[in-house]
Amino acid sequence: MDPIEQTAAPEEEKERALPEPSVQTDIPSLMESYADYFPIGAAVEPFQTTGLKAELLKKHVNWLVAENVMKPDAIQPAEGSFNWENADRIVKFAKESGMEVRFHALIWHSQVGAWFFKDADGKPMVDETDPGKRVANKKLLLERLDTHVRTIVGRYKDDIQSWDVVNEVIEPGDPGGMRASDWYKITGTDYIETAFRAAREAGGPDAKLYINDYGTDNPVKRDRLYELVKEMLANGVPIDGVGHQTHIGILGPTVDSIIDSMQKFSELGLDNLVTELDMSIYAWNDRRDFGADIPADVLKKQADRYRELFEAFKANKDILSGVVFWGIADDHTWLSSFPVKRTEAPFLFDKQLQAKPAFWAVVDPSKLP
Ligand code: GLA
Repeated sequence: MDPIEQTAAPEEEKERALPEPSVQTDIPSLMESYADYFPIGAAVEPFQTTGLKAELLKKHVNWLVAENVMKPDAIQPAEGSFNWENADRIVKFAKESGMEVRFHALIWHSQVGAWFFKDADGKPMVDETDPGKRVANKKLLLERLDTHVRTIVGRYKDDIQSWDVVNEVIEPGDPGGMRASDWYKITGTDYIETAFRAAREAGGPDAKLYINDYGTDNPVKRDRLYELVKEMLANGVPIDGVGHQTHIGILGPTVDSIIDSMQKFSELGLDNLVTELDMSIYAWNDRRDFGADIPADVLKKQADRYRELFEAFKANKDILSGVVFWGIADDHTWLSSFPVKRTEAPFLFDKQLQAKPAFWAVVDPSKLP
């Protein structure tokens, strides 16, 4: 036998030894367990709306969000050319399954077509030095934004109530704590205001409009966001709530810091949502890869922390109106390639779609192994 085959054989055996994915029918439903508290959601790609993944979602969640297909570059890749097909698939699946959909994200600095930020001659607006042309560029960009928002909200307003209007506009490391995106460099904070006003006008009074960000537990970032939102509210900008992405890890941040942030925003009369929950099994600087065999103590630590987190969510249900995971099972997560490529396991269900200790920790801790 040549050496390559020798090393390949045990790997194949290991693959074969793994059970086929299946949906457990004899366990409680996550969303039903939380029916008295708040809806539970998951981010999905359109291909996950069929087959086993669809079954798992139908059993456990009553809210969906598009992981990618409603982002600016996916929906309007070129000016005036809207691509609804993938977004429609998610909306249709949700309707057929009795689930709600939330929209992510109308305006973001990432995954957005470069065309937004080019002038009529194709020149990047940020490079413009002529003051008159800068004024014209700002006007053009805000018009494009307005059209983007109104077209999308107009199309889905009867199907979607909850909207991430802007995503990740705060960056404490940038001047004034505002993310130095092209949006900001060209329009200042006017893009945020225009986006919320357009969403309200197109969506009507029942649309729930959120400003979404990560790291909202960090006091510096939280306070800059608070200051911005407070100022906008004073100017009549229609913001209904804060979306806390909540991409966290088994080691931090503290649950208290997550809840403190929600309490602070609720004092402004705002709603809170957990919009992108996942829990990495590694410390941020840890560059190991556990591979297929995640140590039991790591899964236990994850379960303990999920339990603490959901107990705090339940206790604060008055200021928190939904919890959305950024995925559903460990076979599909952006964390497998971020910040490095490695085996990740951030959810309540494993790669075979089986309930992990973390599932029991949030549904029925008495059943924890
Ligand atoms: C941010 C965005 C999400 C997603 C994640 C990682 O949190 O808001 O849309 O892109 O990053 O994939």
